[in-house]
Amino acid sequence: MNENEYLNKIIQGDALSILKTLPDSIVDVGVTSPPYNKGENKKGWLVTNVKYSGATDKLPENIYQAQQIDVLNEIFRITKPGGSFFYNHKIRWERGEMFHPIDWLRKTKWIIRQEIIWDRMIAANIRGWRFWQVEERIYWLYKPKGKNLIGEELKPKHAFFSSIWRFPPERENPHPAPFPIELPARVIFSIMDGRKGVVIDPYCGSGTTLVAAKILGHAFIGIEISDEYIKYAEKRIKKYDLEVRIVEEETAKHIVIKTFKERKEKGEFTGRYGPRDLENSKKQKKPTLFDYIAKNDKS
Ligand SMILES: C[S@@+](CC[C@H](N)C(=O)[O-])C[C@H]1O[C@@H](n2cnc3c(N)ncnc32)[C@H](O)[C@@H]1O
Repeated sequence: MNENEYLNKIIQGDALSILKTLPDSIVDVGVTSPPYNKGENKKGWLVTNVKYSGATDKLPENIYQAQQIDVLNEIFRITKPGGSFFYNHKIRWERGEMFHPIDWLRKTKWIIRQEIIWDRMIAANIRGWRFWQVEERIYWLYKPKGKNLIGEELKPKHAFFSSIWRFPPERENPHPAPFPIELPARVIFSIMDGRKGVVIDPYCGSGTTLVAAKILGHAFIGIEISDEYIKYAEKRIKKYDLEVRIVEEETAKHIVIKTFKERKEKGEFTGRYGPRDLENSKKQKKPTLFDYIAKNDKS
C-alpha cells in the first residue's frame, strides 16, 4: 500500500488483515479500545446493551487473546522505533476466573511502559458479585529504539498528570462504546508534544482518536469493520471544528508553573522531605484540632 491509500482514511475491514497490508515503521503513536470479548451468549446489562453493528464479540477467551497478541504485534511492526501505543482494556471475569490484560500483553513484543487507571466514576453493570468496577486500564506500550528500552522522558507539563485519569464516559455519541475525546487528546498531545506525525486507531469506531489527531495537526489511519460506524466517523472528521473546544480544554491542562528543577534550585518543596523542606513545612504548619484542644484544655 502506498501512503495515499492509508493516510487520513478509515480502511474498512478486519483489523488484523488490514494491519498486515501496511508498511513497516510508519506510525508515531496509536490509541485504541478493542472489542473486549464480552461474550454475547452470556447474560448481563453490558452484553444486552453494548452490541456492535458489524461484528460479534464472543470468542473463546484463548482465541481472543491470541488474536489480540497478533494485532498488537502487527501494530509493533508498523510503529516507528521509539513510538508508542496506548491500549485501553479492562479486567473481566468469567465464572469466577479473572482475565487481566497483562495476561496477553506480556506475550507481545512491546515494552509495557505504564499501566494507567482510567477512573470513569460510573459504570453500567452494577451487580453485587464484586465492588462496583468503575475503572478501566490504559497500557502505554513502547517500541524500543536500538538498545534504549526506556525511551525519552515526557515534558514536565505532561508528566505532571498522575497515572489515574479521571474522565466520565462519553454520552453524546451514538456508538455503543466510545471513549471521550479527551483521552486520545491527552495521549497524542503528551507523546507528540510539538512534533507532527502519524496516529493510528485499528478499532476506530466512531473516529474519536482520528478527530483528536486531526485537531492536533497529525495525519491518521483508522481501521473499522462496521460500515455504519465508518459513515458516522467520516461525518465527525469533516465537522472536526465542533470538537476543537473540548480538545483545547484538555491541552490547556498541560501546564507546569515551575519545573522540578526550578523548584529545587529555589529550595522549594520538591515532593520529598529533605531537612530544609521539613523545616519550612513546620514553619507553615496550620494548627490542628488537637493543637486547639491542647491549648484550651484547662482541666
Ligand atoms: C470499543 S469500540 C471502539 C470505540 C472507539 N474508541 C470510539 O471512541 O468510538 C471497538 C470497535 O471495534 C470494531 N471492531 C470489532 N471487531 C473488529 C475487527 N475484527 N476489526 C476492526 N474493527 C472491529 C467495532 O465495530 C467497534 O466499533
